Amino acid sequence: HAAAVEVAEKPNKEVSSQSVSQKATILFASQTGNGQMIADSFQEKLQNAGFEAELFSMENYKPKELKKVNHLFVISSTHGEGDPPDNALSFYEFLHSRKAPDLTDTHFSVLALGDTSYEFFCQTGKDFDKRLEQLGGKRLYERIDCDVDFEEEVEAWMSGVIDALQDSTAVSEPTPQTATLGKTAEKVQTSYGRTNPFMAEILENINLNGRGSNKETRHLELSLEGSGFKFAPGDSIGIFPENDPFIVHRLIDEMSWDPDEPIVVNKKGKQLSLQEALRSHYEITVLTKPLLEKAAKFTDNEDLHQLIENEKALKEYMSGRDLIDVGKDFGPWNVPPSQFVSILRKMPPRLYSIASSHEANPDEVHLTIGAVRYHANGRDRTGVCSIQCAERSQPGDTLPVFVQPNPNFKLPDDPDTPIIMVGPGTGVAPFRAFLEEREEVGANGKNWLFFGDQHFHTDFLYQTEWQQYHKDGILTKIDLAFSRDTNEKIYVQDRMMENSNELYRWINDGAVIYVCGDEKKMAGDVHQTLLTILQEEGGMKEEESITYLQEMQRQKRYQRDVY
Ligand code: 2AM
Repeated sequence: HAAAVEVAEKPNKEVSSQSVSQKATILFASQTGNGQMIADSFQEKLQNAGFEAELFSMENYKPKELKKVNHLFVISSTHGEGDPPDNALSFYEFLHSRKAPDLTDTHFSVLALGDTSYEFFCQTGKDFDKRLEQLGGKRLYERIDCDVDFEEEVEAWMSGVIDALQDSTAVSEPTPQTATLGKTAEKVQTSYGRTNPFMAEILENINLNGRGSNKETRHLELSLEGSGFKFAPGDSIGIFPENDPFIVHRLIDEMSWDPDEPIVVNKKGKQLSLQEALRSHYEITVLTKPLLEKAAKFTDNEDLHQLIENEKALKEYMSGRDLIDVGKDFGPWNVPPSQFVSILRKMPPRLYSIASSHEANPDEVHLTIGAVRYHANGRDRTGVCSIQCAERSQPGDTLPVFVQPNPNFKLPDDPDTPIIMVGPGTGVAPFRAFLEEREEVGANGKNWLFFGDQHFHTDFLYQTEWQQYHKDGILTKIDLAFSRDTNEKIYVQDRMMENSNELYRWINDGAVIYVCGDEKKMAGDVHQTLLTILQEEGGMKEEESITYLQEMQRQKRYQRDVY
């Protein structure tokens, strides 16, 4: 598998002469929860191999401890434009500041998580790796950069690190004392997860939008009976989708392949027909630079080689195009399908914020999924998973799913804490879970929802439920912004501004603010509005309001789940 990552080199043998302590510290930073999941499993592997391993989320780690660490393992994802995830910010800043300690006695390795469709692929992991070396640290094992289909690279990194550790500490057998550590770490677990998804039956699948709407938002109810899955409000569900058979057919046609040609789809040698493999195993609708670079080896077409050299043109080409376009634009191709398929990314799961409470509804999970359809470059285009759910999934069908915890979007521990929820469009999903949960556990904290969408009549998602919650006194306050019912657009942040005095009072009373939904525009505009409210109502200078909001973020009083 020609991975889109830097190949791991041999472990640094320099350290093998020294006898070093067996204690390892794992620090993770995670935006979606993958970092945490991998860190948990790495800790277990280290313990099973006889090493003592401590695990911390970066935000909970006291950076002063760093001086004492002999073996440091950093697992970090990257956010948006190459920034550290929210829960890594303070540690990242500390490490890059003058206060950072000398790490001459530290052996380290970094696992970077990212997505090759972003320009600053794995940037935060790369930054950590570089900085740890600058501070004197010795690289125990080369950094590995993972794409969204990270399973194989993660395995390679973990076993590489453990081999290197065993070499360097010259302890081949775990001592009985440390070996027991693996057992104490045992957790009550389900056998289902990302690598072994549960086939969840669809119980309900309805369109939440009314006739005439510009949008289609599906409400799905899935059965989790027998899965053993547990989840908290704020967590997500991952769905492994299948490509549209029509798109698969067109791609095979374009490339003049035989749809029945056998293809090996995994390391164990599992075989599928080409059309089956393309339908269920590979991503064919998202283009990335590494993919095009590899594809360029299979064609003499100069246009593709030139495109790859031109960063700006390449970016523009990749947006709103898929493999069918590549097939058409850059042939003739002289490559057998099995070889072409080997450069594709494995189909990554799509994550959706859960819209129901496990406490209230333990055998089910509800999702709110916006159908993605648009026209670009001469063709109608569709989202892989959302359109499978909207057009090719009926009650009785099953979907492969797993729970993806999100530690960065959690209800306050104290049920009396007031919360402010800002969730236009499908961003409202987790707040349905929040209210269901708060009702179920009898939480007394006040709840305030800001919701917005295009039209009141067709797009007020879960309208009757919010009205019922409001009537029952569970939803203290609801403010609505329908952007296309009036001449001038009204957005959630306008409603926040209109309520700035009361909103500021809630903040003063300790409210936690949650924002879910569009990252590109909405989340930034809401952030700016919060700063304005702090300045106007709290009499803060701009700088003070920025610090104040950062501090709220650090204290988990301002949490975001944006995409
Ligand atoms: P619009 O598309 O009519 O401009 C959910 O998609 C809602 O979010 C829609 O009403 C949409 O409005 C609105 N929206 C678009 N951009 C926004 C922004 N920058 N801030 C807040 N809401 C926005």
